[in-house]
Amino acid sequence: MAENLPPDPWWHGAFLYQIYVRSFCDTNEDGYGDLRGVIERLDHLSWLGVDGIWLSPTMPSPDQDWGYDVSDYTGVHPELGTLADLDDLIAAAADRNVRVLLDLVPNHTSSAHAWFVDASSATDSAHRDYYVWADPAPGGGPPSNWLDSTGRSAWQWDDRTGQYYLHNYLPGQPDLNWWQPAVHEEFRRILAFWFERGVAGFRIDVAHGLYKDQLLRDNPPALDDRSLDNRFGLRSVYNANRPETHAVYRDWRQIAESFAPPRLLLGETWTGDYGKLAQFYGNDDELQLAFNFPFVYAEFTATALSGTVERTLAHLPAGACPVWVASNHDVGRFATRWCGNDERKIRLALLVLATLPGAAVLYYGDEIGMADVDVPPALRRDRMTLTSKDPARSRDRGRTPMQWDASDGAGFTPARVRPWLPIGDNPTRNVASQSRDPDSTLSFCRRLVALRRAEFAGRLPIYQQLPAAEQAWAYDVGELTVLANFSDDELPLDHRVDEVLLASYGKEPPPDTIVLEPWQGIVARR
Ligand code: GLC
Ligand code: CA
Repeated sequence: MAENLPPDPWWHGAFLYQIYVRSFCDTNEDGYGDLRGVIERLDHLSWLGVDGIWLSPTMPSPDQDWGYDVSDYTGVHPELGTLADLDDLIAAAADRNVRVLLDLVPNHTSSAHAWFVDASSATDSAHRDYYVWADPAPGGGPPSNWLDSTGRSAWQWDDRTGQYYLHNYLPGQPDLNWWQPAVHEEFRRILAFWFERGVAGFRIDVAHGLYKDQLLRDNPPALDDRSLDNRFGLRSVYNANRPETHAVYRDWRQIAESFAPPRLLLGETWTGDYGKLAQFYGNDDELQLAFNFPFVYAEFTATALSGTVERTLAHLPAGACPVWVASNHDVGRFATRWCGNDERKIRLALLVLATLPGAAVLYYGDEIGMADVDVPPALRRDRMTLTSKDPARSRDRGRTPMQWDASDGAGFTPARVRPWLPIGDNPTRNVASQSRDPDSTLSFCRRLVALRRAEFAGRLPIYQQLPAAEQAWAYDVGELTVLANFSDDELPLDHRVDEVLLASYGKEPPPDTIVLEPWQGIVARR
């Protein structure tokens, strides 16, 4: 009785689009993107065909970490706009069938949050237990060996109250104490507040965080220096990925599903362990979507990517919806990291993202193949990497203004205004010129989005890897066959298809004798 089953959730087969609001479009000419700027550019997103947008933090913040240090969870950052602007944005997006997800930061607050101001005023203050306080180790010094995201001790001594507090990120981002039930109550209220305003869901920052070991045990040395769970030589065993955190998501899932339509929880689940990644889906009672960082960090080869996909699908529980993403505001842009800014590779990457089963996420600018920008040290704005023991990979490179047109301000801000970060190479790499060119990366990306919607919307198609030469990646997905050449050479393939629907660039090969051009991919119907 199929008609009695609830429809598949909208994120199955969807394209989400991450907007780093400060870098999208500046309407009040202060050099920072803002919410009205997102409203102004919604037509681009509905033209592109995305199903939903995730806005990087919109809440008030002293901006030590550009909004990831929240000082008020139910407000809007004055630099970005007002609550009324956000309401307008949600309504204007809904008019275009685009859902709006906000970024929620439950692992820590800003040290300027009223809870922390109170907590740090006295050991018997009302909010003291909202945070993780500890006495010095028996011999003196920090209570454990945990390191923060800059490579320094994660413990900050507080002179006034004579204890250390925990910060897994900057000292201005004290960690919340999830062993304290009142913290759970606060976040239940915050979730409901935004769901009632029409927010379609949340991207949950540091979703692998929240609970910390109650005994504050030392982290062991990391054995593999390339592991995602390696933080400056220590394996994050006791300060992240704790089992207790799952109960929070079971609770939030119930809240998300008490709203109509049900709301979406998409976690920043930072782990290199596929088993742990799978656990965030629970028994279909935790997060509906969990970011896949092994995929982000896979090498851009047929073997590495296809292996990551196979392992992901093998671990995820039946019916769970995988998430494919390659760029974000922390890891930078795939056009540079994966593709060395080679247009052929960029299109191949987009083709793969668009044809894997699950949900795919584009980062603003991915659709035009925007590259990382080498921001000179004097212009860098990311305090976390500036103060890090490993400052080499500044996150600013992937946060530069969206390139809307070829003008001096790139259509992001007027030419006379100085943008908060420098603008990349925009003469041809911009939305205006690429939208006029039917052969551009943007036009190709739009065709991919439309194809994905037509084939996969509301579905989780079956993925099956096909045998192929080492530098090829071939798979069936739903009724489609995807053939991709990850090499500098022409590649003859003996796969048979009925009809070639799309080639990433160059000529579409005839369906009976397929020879792929270097770094070419095709989508075909079987
Ligand atoms: C997440 C965010 C990152 C931020 C950190 C601390 O990893 O994506 O930008 O710095 O959490 O909130
Ligand atoms: Ca602005």
